This record gives sequence, structure tokens and C-alpha cells, in this order.
Amino acid sequence: LKTAPPSVWKYKDLLPIAIEPVSIREGGTPLYKCDRLAAKIGIKELYVKHEGMNPTGSFKDRGMTVGVSKAIELGMKTVACASTGNTSAALAIYGAKAGIPSVVLLPAGKVALGKIGQALMHGAKVIMIKGNFDDALALVRELCEQEPIYLLNSVNPYRLEGQKTIAFEIVDQLGFKVPDRVVLPVGNAGNITAINKGFKEFVTLGITDKRPKMTGIQTEGACPIVKAYKADADDITPEKNPETIATAIRIGDPVNARKALIAIKESGGMAESVTDDELVQAQKDLAQLEGIGVEPASATSVAGLRKLVEAGLISKDETVVCVTTGHLLKDPEEVISVCVEPVTVEANLEALRKAVFE
Ligand code: F0G
Repeated sequence: LKTAPPSVWKYKDLLPIAIEPVSIREGGTPLYKCDRLAAKIGIKELYVKHEGMNPTGSFKDRGMTVGVSKAIELGMKTVACASTGNTSAALAIYGAKAGIPSVVLLPAGKVALGKIGQALMHGAKVIMIKGNFDDALALVRELCEQEPIYLLNSVNPYRLEGQKTIAFEIVDQLGFKVPDRVVLPVGNAGNITAINKGFKEFVTLGITDKRPKMTGIQTEGACPIVKAYKADADDITPEKNPETIATAIRIGDPVNARKALIAIKESGGMAESVTDDELVQAQKDLAQLEGIGVEPASATSVAGLRKLVEAGLISKDETVVCVTTGHLLKDPEEVISVCVEPVTVEANLEALRKAVFE
């Protein structure tokens, strides 16, 4: 364990797959120490685990390498999922690598361009649903109950087994130290549940002796888990019309909500929401202070940390890891809409000088 570089399959002894896995070198993403961002937020030690550096540009690859391997192990002939985009991109690619067809259901008009491009190019059957993600998930669950199609949303426990390796890698990359807190975006709430499981397993195995406080961030337009957490409720009230610029987490009825609330409470963490403006500011800070390019949903982790530090709810002395879940290039349209427009000038030096120095 101590010598090999981090990657999902470095931890194969802790993963429930007996065959040679369907793999395209997922995991092993960088853990950046972010001193400039830490100074801006006012915290002593901040790291960013950049999951956008996975092969398809999101953490979903960790779940799909395990999930699609399990589908093959079980002899399933077709795989399917509903998705806000990233899960569909990952399923398409691992389906292609495994040589089995994949079907993906997406909420029409609400999926970032890069993700649709990936699903299409890697050969998934892409079906746009006239409804939101929650509608698409309900539909694909029904279809998979009636047909011999293997469902690979995060209701599938093998997906979460793959994603728990984020926790293993964080410990590994910090030299077998456990951070005080892990902050991450929450949508369907599988990832926070999975990462919490990973940290718990390391404690059970005697590799570590403590766990970080799991802190989940949603957007104000789609935050059923934050509302339940603040009301001290065991379950959520679904939101009918979730809306946010962070389309990846535009989810009103997260399937893993109960498990996520347990993970947050038993680890001593918390849940908080941020506005779209706050997450865009965090996205720019990550990009311009640290060179880390993320999609909008991913920036909620940093926006949430900043809000909680400012509110005095997180101590400045904590060692914190923010997980950035997806790459900037996933959603180029959002980037264009929130950044200054480029200038166009005549092709001569005078015009160029004017543009550069004015
Ligand atoms: N960040 C990104 C970039 C995501 O794509 C997602 C989920 C999340 C965070 C939230 O993770 O659902 O485990 O709480 N995207 C799913 C999808 C829903 O279909 O790609 P979660």
C-alpha cells in the first residue's frame, strides 16, 4: 500500500470485483496544497483533490470502473443510467471499453455541452427526457426493473465502492494523515456517502485512527439535504423545481439523502448552501489563484468552505480538503457566460497595442 502511486485499482483488495477490471487508469488524481486560496479564505491548511483530472474529467470514472466491471462479472449485456451529464459520460466510455451498449437518459436542455459530447462520441444511446433529472432517474429505474438492463446510478452499491477510493487516496497523499474536514458538492448524495465509507474502512482496518468531518454543499436553488440538516430531520422534503447554474447538482430528490444525512451527522460534519454568484466567485478563485479549472458544481465546495469560515462555523486551524468533482472543460458555455468577453481587433500593431495596454 505504501509504495504504489494512488489509483482506484491500487486498492483492489478492498473492492468487490473478482475479474480483470474494465479500466482506463482512473483515480490517482492530484491533491494540491492551495496556499493562495487558503490565505484568501482565511484558513491555515487547504488542499484540493481535483477529480476533474480523471480520464473523463469527473469522479464518476471511479464508480464506473467498478460498476461496469461488476456488470461484466454478472454477465449483463446492457448498462443504463439517468444523469445530469457526468455519469452518462463515464458510463458511455466504460461501456465502450467493455464492449457493451449503454443507454443514458438526460434532462433535455439542462446538460453541459462537454458531457453530451462525450456520451455521444463514445457511442451511448443518448435519450433526452422532457423533465428534470429526478424524472429521468425514476424512469430508468422502472425500465431496468422490467428489462435485463443493469442500472448504474448511485443506487447501485458497486458505484459507491469505486468512489470510496477518494478517501483512501486523500489519506495516502497526506502521508497517512487524516484531514480534519472534507468538503464536497452534493447532488444525488452518493459521493459523500461513498467517501465517508472509505474513511470508515481505513479506521476499521487500523490504517487510521480518526475520520474527517464530512461537509456537504448544495446550491440555494437545489438544497433539500441542507434544509433537512438544518431542520434536524432524518429525511428530506423533495424539491419539485430545482434550479441552479451548477447543472450537475440540479437535483430535487436525491436518492441517497438519508445515507448522506447519516454520514454528515455521524462524522460531526455539516451541510450548507451557496448562491450561484458565490460558486462562480469560487470557480474564478480556483482558476486564477491556483490554476485549478473546475465546472460550476465543483466550485461549491470552496464557496461553502469560505461561507462557513466567514460565519465562524469552521475553525481557521483546521486542515481541510475540498473535493472538486469535475473539470472546467465540461461546461464551456457557463465559462463564456461568466467571464469577460474577448476583444476583437484589426490585424495591426497599433490596434494590438491599444488592446493590450488600455
Ligand atoms: N459534482 C459533479 C461534477 C457531479 O457531476 C455530481 C453528480 C456531483 C458533484 C454530486 O455527486 O450525486 O454523488 O452527490 N452528478 C450526477 C450525474 C448526478 O448524473 O453526473 P453526488
